[in-house]
Amino acid sequence: MSAPNIETIVSLSKRRGFVFPASDIYGGLGSSWDYGPLGVELANNIKRSWWNWAVYERDDIEGLDSSIILNRSVWKYSGHETTFSDPLVDCRDCKARLRQDKLDTDDAGKFICSNCGSTNLTAPRPFNLMFRTTIGAVSADDDPAALAYLRPETAQGIFINFKNVLDTSRRKLPFGIAQIGKAFRNEVTPGNFIFRTREFEQMEIEYFVRPDEVQRLHQEWLDAYLEWIKSLGISAENIKLYEQSADELAHYSERTVDILYRYFPEREQEEKQWDELMGIANRTDYDLRVHSKKPEDAEGKRINPDSTEDLSYFDPQTNERFYPYIIEPSIGVNRTLLAVMMDAYTERTTDKGETRVILKLAPDLAPIKAAVLPLAKNKPEIVEMARRIKKDLQPSMRAVYDDTGGIGKLYARQDEIGTPFCITVDHESLEDNAVTVRHRDTWEQERISVDSLRGYLADRLA
Ligand code: GAP
Repeated sequence: MSAPNIETIVSLSKRRGFVFPASDIYGGLGSSWDYGPLGVELANNIKRSWWNWAVYERDDIEGLDSSIILNRSVWKYSGHETTFSDPLVDCRDCKARLRQDKLDTDDAGKFICSNCGSTNLTAPRPFNLMFRTTIGAVSADDDPAALAYLRPETAQGIFINFKNVLDTSRRKLPFGIAQIGKAFRNEVTPGNFIFRTREFEQMEIEYFVRPDEVQRLHQEWLDAYLEWIKSLGISAENIKLYEQSADELAHYSERTVDILYRYFPEREQEEKQWDELMGIANRTDYDLRVHSKKPEDAEGKRINPDSTEDLSYFDPQTNERFYPYIIEPSIGVNRTLLAVMMDAYTERTTDKGETRVILKLAPDLAPIKAAVLPLAKNKPEIVEMARRIKKDLQPSMRAVYDDTGGIGKLYARQDEIGTPFCITVDHESLEDNAVTVRHRDTWEQERISVDSLRGYLADRLA
């Protein structure tokens, strides 16, 4: 089972402190979200899982953390200033502002307004998605010399550091650079909770390869990501591949395969249930070429007269110099978090006929690993023992102490936020120095000695 729709996750998130509407006390700010106490833990655990898998467990990836605001030339030569736009249309009837490429068409091929159903729409015009800002205390808002952008992808920060990383790490092809960071896009139609927002976070790898290896390694990355996504607890039946058609490909891409997640299971038409979780692109040698000072166009003019560096690679085996091809797996933190929560969502009916929510998160992603609960909060020895156990666990795992309700209510609360283990300290614990460990997914209980508790939990969380 997974969540029946995104709304279920919106409501759980707000109720329990995963995600809140941003700027709420001032009426909100369309499609902006803040990550609360549990949401920030879950997002950090996803990012940690990815960094471990992508950087530490492989031998061919280095990490990077580049700036959000870059020299404007980066966006000029990457092509973003001229091509990073969506086709904007206005509905003449209801005045909605829409992305034409996301609209359905009628039998005559006319685009239909998703707000009111009218086909009375304006012709499309390109709307650049980059957020603009100005640099420097003295600059006027419209001073073109001070114009800068908030990055719409982390990727460009990697390309322009290719030589720095290559020279300092002494890497040979194939190798990659990984980065996690915020990206900003002035989306025309943000929405569906954290699925499409104007501020979001990406986890990107730019993997530099010889041109003749690109197809094989592209496939390897695809297979690797499918496995990693499943390792997050996302079931295979809720993911599928989508090969982008030639007219969908970005200007730099020779081939892009998207991995889709079933974000909209409530939709009647099966093909409308899916949307993009991530993409894996073959960007060819486009990026390193356009940021290099040497390449020339057909008339012998430098394509980039502003760059001071050549980002080619010298292959010591073949004595050849060339611009490496790039395979780019790019995945959003926020879309991953949403898919993880949707897939983990289950409901169970108690003997009394009550419906309980259980968030069956993979243990390493769970915001809280263990909740220590005293059975009698008016008994100081029990409270003291429970607090001590929490303190002992905390250095090795996220643990909490909670005495704010009856035991049934406390269990239900922890199930709903995905805590894999509840540890109950009772009267007997004072005698036998043991506690009851309750398992989230089965509700089974075991008696475990306090001395072996940390090792017992660590084994099961690994
Ligand atoms: N560097 C390549 C690149 O940025 P993209 O397909 O535009 O490619 C990659 O973005 C991923 O970033 C997407 O698959 C998605 O997970 C995430 N993403 C993109 N736009 C987003 C948005 N407005 N809100 C949330 N996540 C977004």
